[in-house]
Amino acid sequence: MFTKKLVLALIITALVLFTGAILAQAQTGNDQAGTTTIKHVPITSTSPVSGKDMFTAYCAVCHGADGKGAGPAASALKTPPTDLTSLSKNNGGKFPSLKVSATIRGEGGFPAHGSKEMPVWGALFWNLSGGHESEVQQRVVNLTKYIESLQAK
Ligand code: HEC
Repeated sequence: MFTKKLVLALIITALVLFTGAILAQAQTGNDQAGTTTIKHVPITSTSPVSGKDMFTAYCAVCHGADGKGAGPAASALKTPPTDLTSLSKNNGGKFPSLKVSATIRGEGGFPAHGSKEMPVWGALFWNLSGGHESEVQQRVVNLTKYIESLQAK
């Protein structure tokens, strides 16, 4: 047995209220019971032009900073977060942009998005953008491009 740094995962719930949204963040730390705990924190604002900043703020907690799926909150989830660096490889070498952007928006019909474990970002971004669809679109596009840039060769 090794001493495991316990993950204090401060996650989510895509509990979208009209005035605000809640989102995931994680921190490592120890807790006495040896369990992973989940907390809800307010969504932080990021620039819609930086896919990288958005990924770090909203996605890395589960998918890992490198996108490979080993974020600090991953161990608290029933379904492991997808390795986002293999999306092209698993799609015949072509990056599935439409599927990725639909998934981010929560329109993809993928069960894990919009489930308890995967927030529906479309609604969160809508709140963050004060209801400006063009900004929501910009966020989704830039995040999708950033994920494309992470693809393994
Ligand atoms: C609370 C943890 C969590 C967070 C935060 C999270 N994801 Fe996910 N994500 C998951 C899980 C779990 C899956 C796997 C779903 C499945 O396989 O059913 C997933 C799957 C995905 C997929 C589907 C890949 C495929 O198979 O086509 C994409 C794309 C994705 N996430 C993008 C994102 C982006 C972009 C963000 C940040 C805006 C994000 N995720 C934040 C947990 C998370």
